[in-house]
Amino acid sequence: MTRRTDLAAIEAILLDMDGTLVDSDASVERAWSIWAKEYGVDPGAVLDIAHGSPAARTVRRLLPALDDEAVMAAAQRQHALQYEDLADVTAAPGARLLLATLDRLQLPWAVVTSADGRLAKARLHAAGIDPPVLLTIDDVRAGKPDPEGYLEAARRLRVAPSACLVVEDSEPGLAAGRAAGMPTAALRGLDGDLSLPGLGRLAHLLQRSRVRPWWRDAVGYQVYLPSFADSTGDGWGDLTGVSARLDHLERLGVEVVWLTPFYRSPMRDHGYDIADYRAVDPSFGGQAALDGLLAQAHRRGMRVIGDLVVNHTSDAHPWFVAASACAADPHRDYYIWRDPAPDGGPPNNWLSHFGGPAWTFSPATGQYYLHLFRPEQPDLNWRNPALAAEIDAIAEYWLSRGLDGFRIDTAGYLVKDAGLRDNPPLPAGRILPARGVTMDWRRQEHRHDIHQPGVHAIHERWRRIADRHDAFLVGEVYELDPRALARFVEGERLHSSFWFGLVETDWDADRIDTMIESAVLASPRLSWVQGNHDRSRAVTRFGGGLRGRRRSLALHALMALLPGTFWLYQGEELGLGDGRVSPGHGADPLGAAQPEESRDVARTPMPWRPGPGLGFTTGHPWLPDGARGDGETVAAQQDDPTSHLNTLGRLLATRRRLTHVLAATDDVRRVRLTAPVTAYRRGALWAVANLRDTPVADLHLPAPAVFDTDDPGVTPDRPRTGYARLAPQQALLLAGE
Ligand code: GLC
Repeated sequence: MTRRTDLAAIEAILLDMDGTLVDSDASVERAWSIWAKEYGVDPGAVLDIAHGSPAARTVRRLLPALDDEAVMAAAQRQHALQYEDLADVTAAPGARLLLATLDRLQLPWAVVTSADGRLAKARLHAAGIDPPVLLTIDDVRAGKPDPEGYLEAARRLRVAPSACLVVEDSEPGLAAGRAAGMPTAALRGLDGDLSLPGLGRLAHLLQRSRVRPWWRDAVGYQVYLPSFADSTGDGWGDLTGVSARLDHLERLGVEVVWLTPFYRSPMRDHGYDIADYRAVDPSFGGQAALDGLLAQAHRRGMRVIGDLVVNHTSDAHPWFVAASACAADPHRDYYIWRDPAPDGGPPNNWLSHFGGPAWTFSPATGQYYLHLFRPEQPDLNWRNPALAAEIDAIAEYWLSRGLDGFRIDTAGYLVKDAGLRDNPPLPAGRILPARGVTMDWRRQEHRHDIHQPGVHAIHERWRRIADRHDAFLVGEVYELDPRALARFVEGERLHSSFWFGLVETDWDADRIDTMIESAVLASPRLSWVQGNHDRSRAVTRFGGGLRGRRRSLALHALMALLPGTFWLYQGEELGLGDGRVSPGHGADPLGAAQPEESRDVARTPMPWRPGPGLGFTTGHPWLPDGARGDGETVAAQQDDPTSHLNTLGRLLATRRRLTHVLAATDDVRRVRLTAPVTAYRRGALWAVANLRDTPVADLHLPAPAVFDTDDPGVTPDRPRTGYARLAPQQALLLAGE
């Protein structure tokens, strides 16, 4: 379970004493040897079973014939042999570093030991350790492996058991921790949720997990560059246009801007087909426009991430131009080439997302090349180390030039089955629930073309580069099962990954409710999104109109509390539904193959103000303007305190004021309140939403409300307490002590 080993979620450390925090091995051994002689037991047999167990338990196992009183006497004798034997008792290696680290991080801790109170105090004193909470065998009915001691320590520290890390060097101790429902860290090569070579390592890991990186809980905003803001009047968005609109983003509370691809490109997939990874396309304003945007954003304290599109290049990339001209070219192996099948057709049955086979014949060399998207987007060969090194250098290049990270395009696709085996067809009548692909693609099981395990090693490699620059990597991984998705962000893989559950669904309150819960449980490092440039907008999928907008907003209120990054797709802040694009006026290659899947509806220009060009352009927009109403524009919504824009702005402003409370814990739990609402609690904060279409009466508020979707008068300075009635899709944030 990822949660368990996520040290950032740990709120207290519970340490065993002997062999863990205190090095008392010699003294323990001497005492048991003398005791064994006195009681006529083989000393060799004793030590094996004594470690980590209360003395009485060991005595009982060795001398089953003794009655309770005699067992107690024998255990006391064993302790007595150790009370004065403190000469070589010291703090274990790394113990001082660990305790100093806990002190600095203000992480509460306790010692839970099988020794009695007198012995524990004597040993800790000899080792120079003074724990804030000490639980000994005198404080419990049964010692380890019984969990009572650990549970009692958690209670005294006022920390939930699941947020306590047990550190142990013996099996009975680890068993006690597990039985208490606590994650465990094991020493001496034993098996815990974490295996530690020593306490110093734990100090280091905790330290690292506590330095909260800038992107944790950040508010991100996706700019779809062609459609955000045009500064030149050519009808096509550009980087200077983005610079000119930073006020809007700053007012909204955006901290990270993701720019869709700005590289030189023939734009056959609007930038997702790159011809030069190190150049900014002139149509977006060239390098100077990017430098200007980075400088202005950074001055405002905003970060900017790019889009790393390295599953494929453009067929106009010099690598592909050379590779397709000559089979002996050194760049040939940057791509995936195969001979035709015996009948002259494609080498296997893989399909392009945008229609037709995933293979195109290249007459110059008589082979086919692979492309999971358009024929103009040939797939790169990630089994070639030279290619991997090129991409490392490209990532380095941009991070050194000032980008703060990358959204990773099709992050789960890079590696393909080595044998390029056929995908099995799905049983007749079954189709994948996937969107953004053709119907033919949905009839295959994509066992061999995408989501191959080798991608994690590539992500780990990029992570090392990113961490050197304090940069952020967020993956585009269309893996809807949150537990499978969590594997992409565990350990030293991607920092985060979008979870597309809310992007791929229409409105179904119950289903959305359970989906969110499973994503919350899977990982605290997901990126929450409702939409992007590849799918119908959330407001439309959620029913459209006022109801669609209210549903989207209620989910934003829940998202505001969840650990991970909070993302908006441009226009979501205005409550935009899909733009209208009449047949024949679209530009999306997918729309040409599968009209009902066209992505144009989410890509129509951003409506800044009423009138021709919508304030997006003074010219003729590259895509139809989407038939926006005046009320959908930024200008119209800005002055209305109850507008979608201002409500979302209020939500994000409230969240910003509560940052320190959010940062206190990543541990989020679903809570049941007095009424049938969806509620989550994160430390002192709650998010409560009525996702249903019926009102909820008499909801007792467990803490003061500081944000209310339906009442701009509710603020952290003017909270509301007591009982509330929640209209359909009304949502609240509550903040307690
Ligand atoms: C990603 C992009 C999409 C693009 C595809 C191919 O899914 O979001 O817009 O068409 O990759 O690069």
